[in-house]
Amino acid sequence: MRIGLLTGGGDCPGLNAVIRAVVRKGIDRYGHTILGYRDGWRGVIESSYDELTVDSTRGILPRGGTILGSSRTNPLKDPDGAERVEESMRTLQLDGLIAIGGEDTLGVASSLYEAGLPVMGVPKTIDNDIGATDLTFGFDTAVQVATEAIDRLHTTAESHNRVLVLEVMGRHAGWIALHSGLAGGADVILIPERPFDIDEACSLLRRRHSRGRYFSIVVVAEGAVPRAGAIETREAPRDEFGHVRLGGIGQRLEGEIERRTGFETRTTVLGHIQRGGTPTAFDRVLATRFGIAAIDAASERRWGMMPALRSMRIELAPLADAVAQLRTVPVEDYEVAEAFFG
Ligand code: F6P
Repeated sequence: MRIGLLTGGGDCPGLNAVIRAVVRKGIDRYGHTILGYRDGWRGVIESSYDELTVDSTRGILPRGGTILGSSRTNPLKDPDGAERVEESMRTLQLDGLIAIGGEDTLGVASSLYEAGLPVMGVPKTIDNDIGATDLTFGFDTAVQVATEAIDRLHTTAESHNRVLVLEVMGRHAGWIALHSGLAGGADVILIPERPFDIDEACSLLRRRHSRGRYFSIVVVAEGAVPRAGAIETREAPRDEFGHVRLGGIGQRLEGEIERRTGFETRTTVLGHIQRGGTPTAFDRVLATRFGIAAIDAASERRWGMMPALRSMRIELAPLADAVAQLRTVPVEDYEVAEAFFG
């Protein structure tokens, strides 16, 4: 078979491990030809690709990012987008396409499959917000990086009696904030799933001070929102998929906390640091398992599916299920963290 491969959306630790697994088993075990499109869906539309070989994918397992490049191009924004994808696949005589990506990339893959194209997906994102799978690779690495940041912030917070706010990524899901906050012993964690009351957050910090702890760590997810009317919000720019570019809540919290409590407060925005660099061992293993499951499924022409982790086992799930709904933090998970607030 001739199989196309692409990585779309934000880069994520573990993408290269998937590429390596697809290529290694695809060529060695099945005798397929694997073509890697450059820069996500943009490479498909522009027919920009390289043939991937076992040699060209050696040594990439511990590398962050993606050797294929990525973009947030949405081919379906163009009314002829699906035909252009089909044309590229026909020209390159592809039997199928494996799209590695998050909500947006998998959404495109799902629509193309519905339109009759032989496409399947592999779920990736540091945000961990894809439906139908218990976990996505990249999340563990992001949590590890954010936890290390909290550990480092603790020492300065304590030395200077400050409130230190850490803003982490995660889009409209609070997984990174919740898990890093739990692992790092944060005193307040604010996530999108639970609109926050700034007065309540400040009361928790005051209570902590009254108990003789003169420093605090607040972890806030970039998508956290204040309860209506609590703090002013602003319009942000949108990408090709219509998503707002998040960020800035940490800075606004800094001002509000300092003004309301009188405690010196500073913010750190972790940004792309939590998405870059080498994947943890857990993410390398999960990404490798997903890659192997993807090439096995493609070899059986199980289009319209994606590998998913369910109770530690890798299964195939319909792409449509994966993109039907964002996987957000359940109330009971947040309640575990709340026991340590203030
Ligand atoms: O989806 C991964 C992610 O890192 C989000 O957590 C974040 O909101 C977004 O991508 C940032 O995207 P970009 O790198 O395009 O600014």
